[in-house]
Amino acid sequence: MKIENIKANKILDSRGEWTVEVEIESENKGKASIPSGKSLGSHEAVCLDCDLIEKNLPEFLKEVKNFDFKSSQEFDNFLIERAGKNKEKLGGNFTLGCSIAFAKVLAKKEGLELYEYLEKEYTQTTANYTQAAAESYNNSPREFALSLQESAPTPKLIINIIGGGVHSFNNLDFQECWLVSKQSFSEKLIAEILSVINILENKLSKPLGRNDEGAFCTNFNDNYEPFIYLNQFKENFELGADIAANQIKKDINWQEIYHQLKKLNVTYLEDPYKEDEFEYFANLRKEGFKVIGDDLTTTNTERLKTALEKNSLDGVIVKPNQIGTIKETFDFIKLAKENNLFTIFSHRSGETNDNWIIDLGISFNADYFKIGVPLQGERIAKWNRLKEIFDKNDK
Ligand code: PGA
Ligand code: ZN
Repeated sequence: MKIENIKANKILDSRGEWTVEVEIESENKGKASIPSGKSLGSHEAVCLDCDLIEKNLPEFLKEVKNFDFKSSQEFDNFLIERAGKNKEKLGGNFTLGCSIAFAKVLAKKEGLELYEYLEKEYTQTTANYTQAAAESYNNSPREFALSLQESAPTPKLIINIIGGGVHSFNNLDFQECWLVSKQSFSEKLIAEILSVINILENKLSKPLGRNDEGAFCTNFNDNYEPFIYLNQFKENFELGADIAANQIKKDINWQEIYHQLKKLNVTYLEDPYKEDEFEYFANLRKEGFKVIGDDLTTTNTERLKTALEKNSLDGVIVKPNQIGTIKETFDFIKLAKENNLFTIFSHRSGETNDNWIIDLGISFNADYFKIGVPLQGERIAKWNRLKEIFDKNDK
């Protein structure tokens, strides 16, 4: 499909900072806006300023117009070739906006939802998708994709319910204290989470309220106190934390911390050490924690290969704007899944009202979603999209 025009609009994100919304005009139109992180890993794709993106646009557009892209992957390869190392020439925020906006155009052309389109295109390239096979599943790419799996994907939720670190104004060193759902997404789970919020709201919302992702961020006596609160929910939830160790500048006795967190029933730990400390991650797995990479892996296949060699991980965070295209995000997930790692599709702390992260997670079989608490519009947009897809596929 030929691309006729690309616009890079400057829009505000949930922190009141500028971010980019890309609009692609072809046989129809597709739009995607890109979130931004505050707790950044240094191996993430470069995020370019909106004014610079706009300046680069005419030359990029001139070249794009010479091509007829047959698929989302073909367009992504074009973007990857032109963006240079770490997407520094075009900006990973711009390339991801293009990648998603174009996938939306292709989906619309076929009368499919974004998640259905991606399932179809990626299933075709990975699992002998044929017209005959598609027809035997009523031409539903979702049904066909599900038929290739042992069981239907049932994403669970990771709820960042108490916050600290660079997302907050309080005295907690850890960035996120989690409840990890034992059951998969359903209306019942939503009700359970809302009741947890009600219980904690009275105790924890004063005087500092909620942080960038909607997590409660009051002051605590120490780094352990949040988990004492969270233990009351352990019948239905497991406990975890995004330590975001990269952002913690003071000296910390990590061994002592993890010893105490173990006693407080914390099971999941994201970025428990700094972004290049692959061996320390591996050692913590031997203590029985489920260890997750975010700044360690930055949705980057090369970083993941190192983590796999060193046995550093049980699971990975998937943030498409860390790498800059759908295709590279898929390659990362494929490698993770081939090595039995679980995947957590994640929002960023600075979000927009777009909800493509849910479509990507559904089409690529997310094991978990981490999309904040349903208290702020930019997070609610993701919760509602997840519910919409589940309702549709339940019928
Ligand atoms: P960020 O934080 O979006 O600010 O990077 C989220 C995380 O570290 O998981
Ligand atoms: Zn993180």
